[in-house]
Amino acid sequence: AGPCDIYSSGGTPCVAAHGTTRALYNSYAGPLYQVKRGSDGATNDIAPLHAGGVANAAHQDTFCAGTTCLITIIYDQSGHGNHLSQASPGYFIGPDSHGYDNLASAIGAPVTLNGEKAYGVFISPGTGYRNNAAKDTATGDEAEGLYAVFDGTHYNNRCCFDYGNAEVSGNDTGNGHMEAIYFGDLTAYGTGAGSGPWIMADLENGLFSGFNAKNNAGDPSIIYRFVSAAVKGGANKWAIRGGNAASGPLSTFYNGTRPNARGYNPMSKEGAIILGIGGDNSHGSQGTFYEGVMTSGYPSDETENAVQANIVAAKYTIAPLTGGPELTVGSSISLRATTACCTTRYVTHTGSTVNTQVVSSSSPGALKKQASWIVRTGLANSECFSFESVDTPSSFLIHDNFVFVLRSNDGTKALHEAATFCPQPGLNGKGNSIRSWSYPTRYFRHYNNVLYAASNGGVHKFDNPASFNDDVSWVVSAGFA
Ligand code: AHR
Repeated sequence: AGPCDIYSSGGTPCVAAHGTTRALYNSYAGPLYQVKRGSDGATNDIAPLHAGGVANAAHQDTFCAGTTCLITIIYDQSGHGNHLSQASPGYFIGPDSHGYDNLASAIGAPVTLNGEKAYGVFISPGTGYRNNAAKDTATGDEAEGLYAVFDGTHYNNRCCFDYGNAEVSGNDTGNGHMEAIYFGDLTAYGTGAGSGPWIMADLENGLFSGFNAKNNAGDPSIIYRFVSAAVKGGANKWAIRGGNAASGPLSTFYNGTRPNARGYNPMSKEGAIILGIGGDNSHGSQGTFYEGVMTSGYPSDETENAVQANIVAAKYTIAPLTGGPELTVGSSISLRATTACCTTRYVTHTGSTVNTQVVSSSSPGALKKQASWIVRTGLANSECFSFESVDTPSSFLIHDNFVFVLRSNDGTKALHEAATFCPQPGLNGKGNSIRSWSYPTRYFRHYNNVLYAASNGGVHKFDNPASFNDDVSWVVSAGFA
């Protein structure tokens, strides 16, 4: 059985079921998600390998070979038509064209389930999915249950990495107008024990960790790579539960009456569905979503425990984030452009500016050093890499507003994330394309001889799709210095 078969047996059927990694019903063989590729804008649906099975990741890999792909739709498997697509502008305007939020890269969150490869939804700041016309989800004070599987190591302290029930308008319409699972370490509202991240409930104008509007020590910091997070709400009762999605049971972090703040009892749920954003389209947050559902009715703990056992049995494990010619930690490398204009140009820095310059073995020693980079273990993710300047120790290649700069490692999470990159086979077939870990739609790209973190066809000039594949493909060689 799948999670939604279990919820049905418990008398609280799924009214929304989203999973890019697997079917959530034993009999479900329809599409899980849709991808759109950069080369020609064509779309394709990715289905499970068989009814009830893991997603056909090989289909995506074939369709997206030699180009980029975005996740355009996350289909509702419940039959209620509650699909998630690119979030439209709300009170906050998104960064993509016409104020929409960005779409997620289709390759930012590779995993395996029982040994079979699949992809989650890696939400960078600015990315979000939404359905403002969802049907049969809870409204008003009606009861519902929610669970989701997240990456417990991918989060931040901005509003609000949510999955669940929100306003149909994209505006903050008041306390109690949302009921979504939140995951992260934002401390402006509620907090739990330790320094986070925490599973909380976003009930609008507040992330709640229990009865008190601020701190509730019963809500622990989460340490798991794969996290099961559950929130449920009914008439003057609600609960937060969570656990390790790869082993063991769920624990109850709160189970009691609605919080001691005005406007949350009774609730005024509106029934829209959000993923990766706040109710008002706040989009500063980040996180990774693998699967999740919304139910009709208040699921029992026993039902949720059985769902947790089902998630554990799906055996989520990490899959490689990198590919292509291998990089060796500790070695010095140089990175040569492969676009026809520029095949003698290398990634170089001039002070803090990062550009491409013509470099050769007969160049001055100072220039050779400026074009040489020591491969380091990724500062934000040890499966990927960071690049330290040979002539300016402890300064790294980072992107700031998607423009590369050389910056000293100040030890902050923000800098570490902006300095972490995952190489993959070059999109034009040569060398490596070097993807940002934290913004996996974005790659090292030279544009007018300046280095950017560019996406294929985004809103910036440097996102220009013309010659994108060539501009993001680099031949890695031993460093000049
Ligand atoms: O409740 C926290 C956030 O506050 C909501 O997600 C958003 O709508 C508002 O800014």
